[in-house]
Amino acid sequence: MNRESSLCLQLTEAGELRHLLTLEGLDRSIIENLLDRSEEYRHPIGSVPARDTCLAGRTVANLFFEASTRTRASFELAAKRMSADVLNLDVNTSSRIKGESILDTIYTLQAMQADIFVIRDASAGVPALIAEHVQPHISILNAGEADISHPTQGLLDLLTIRQHKGGFEGLVVTIIGDIKHSRVARSAAQGLRTMGTTDLRLATPPGLAPDPLHYPGAVITEDVDAAIEGADVVMALRIQRERIENNPRLPDKNKYLEIYGVTEKRLQLARPDAIVMHPGPMNRDVEIVGSVADGPQSVITEQVANGLAVRMAILATISEPRANS
Ligand code: CP
Repeated sequence: MNRESSLCLQLTEAGELRHLLTLEGLDRSIIENLLDRSEEYRHPIGSVPARDTCLAGRTVANLFFEASTRTRASFELAAKRMSADVLNLDVNTSSRIKGESILDTIYTLQAMQADIFVIRDASAGVPALIAEHVQPHISILNAGEADISHPTQGLLDLLTIRQHKGGFEGLVVTIIGDIKHSRVARSAAQGLRTMGTTDLRLATPPGLAPDPLHYPGAVITEDVDAAIEGADVVMALRIQRERIENNPRLPDKNKYLEIYGVTEKRLQLARPDAIVMHPGPMNRDVEIVGSVADGPQSVITEQVANGLAVRMAILATISEPRANS
């Protein structure tokens, strides 16, 4: 299924969000509504968390066929704080291990009246495949799809940028690291483009540059210093250890920080009020030095808090009565 089909599939005939599969081509007004709604669920750390009952009677099934801490925990908390029943399928002891297909797994849980499925899978196209086959009252939320898409991460990144920069137009956004394999970068770029950011710079080590077709208008370079110069937003991406170990064109992990990492010295090239982001999990002192990750310009903890608010906003939005249902 191509991306255009995914976009059509995730909307009802009335143009309302039924599934969340991709940010690519998603209407600006839908993104803005989700960001505005997320603000309502954002309560300061230390205060009583946001709660409501809008998912009472609904069942959210979390199916993570790849590892996750932030996305899985925040979807679970979001669903519970909105009064849903929550099923966290332990994939390692599920019948998928015996060879059951993903669709048969979904049909099984559908028969138990699960009606919102949160899916992370290493294979491209799985969320859309499921969305094509489920009953009309069911919603599918993509919680990370191969190297293709991570739309809730994209939304939490947009929310964090908007909170600090007030908007998106005129911003210089620099993403550094393994862009080629990054679903986070893909979704962030799609969202930023829709919201009006035109200066997107992608700085990658050799061999980790993305297909430019996925990043129309972006500058792709191996020169990290040039890419970071004058940036309003600096986002570091995780470099998978096995990619460092197996790629002779990459330096060892100690040298990686010096050449491609976000260090205090390199950050001085960005604007003085630049924010530093990282989707997590981080390799401290590999792609980002610990003092920057914990420093005054870092918004990494805010990204995590925003992730919960964004997932509550999405659950609330897709569970509203729909015009044609
Ligand atoms: N950013 C992100 O997706 O983190 P997890 O893999 O921990 O969910």
